[in-house]
Amino acid sequence: MNSVVRISDPDEMRMLSARWRDEGLEVGFVPTMGALHEGHLSLVKRAIMLGDRVVVSIFVNPKQFGPGEDLDRYPRTLEEDLRLLGKAGAHCVFTPSEDDVYPEGHATTVHVSGLTEGLCGRYRPGHFDGVSTVVAILFGMVTPHFAVFGRKDAQQLAVIRRMTGDLRLGVRIEGSETVREPDGLAMSSRNRYLKEEERAQATAIHRALVEAAGMAARGETDAGRILEAARQTIEEAPLARIQYLELVDPLSLKPVGRISPNGLLAVAVYFGRTRLIDNMELEAPVPPRGQ
Ligand code: PAF
Repeated sequence: MNSVVRISDPDEMRMLSARWRDEGLEVGFVPTMGALHEGHLSLVKRAIMLGDRVVVSIFVNPKQFGPGEDLDRYPRTLEEDLRLLGKAGAHCVFTPSEDDVYPEGHATTVHVSGLTEGLCGRYRPGHFDGVSTVVAILFGMVTPHFAVFGRKDAQQLAVIRRMTGDLRLGVRIEGSETVREPDGLAMSSRNRYLKEEERAQATAIHRALVEAAGMAARGETDAGRILEAARQTIEEAPLARIQYLELVDPLSLKPVGRISPNGLLAVAVYFGRTRLIDNMELEAPVPPRGQ
């Protein structure tokens, strides 16, 4: 097992990263809120593949949780996270304190307009401001060449790309495929909240996405028909409460009436108190040459 260096002081973090950069090493970064699972570890593995040194931050960011959300019950499993990161081959775990990230007098919020308005943004006001703000701060502390984010949080990935480009932060953003349980459920730190029956029924989400991808691949382009079929499949799970189910343009995240040539089917579903999100890119079949 690799021994992983843990740093909590932002100045120390910046100095280590600067030293690596001076040595000509490519520094990759994976920001997390801990409670790590295979999904996070796949981001770390991708960063290791792409770079020479990998920093993983663990910081449960209060600014991205709304009132009544699960900040207090968000799982905190630092010892186990450190063990997993050592085993995965991360070089440094950065665990800044809340006072270091948001010192007294902190007054800056990063807001990305447009992309944050629909999907999760509609139901979690301020959430993406919290995410963009903390990621911008962490980028400043870690000063990586690139950072890896999961495609499961497709809206987050789009928002971070926009923010990083607009603010010319000079960090390359890499997307990484969603990691799933053997029965298709997307891995998430929140899966551990699911009661046994909720967990069993939560597979309906992936089933609906796969069926929709199949419809699109067979030539169905109408958003209404695809969404109706997906809704029915999810609602076959009696414990599922759909918050949103939308077919959007993968770049603008605006709803589309048709797939042409692709679309992102994005969903948020409650099982009990646990909110799960997932998505899948749907592609229309390529027309035969000459048509
Ligand atoms: O995806 C997450 O875990 C968080 O939103 C992130 C990117 C670590 C920011 O707190």
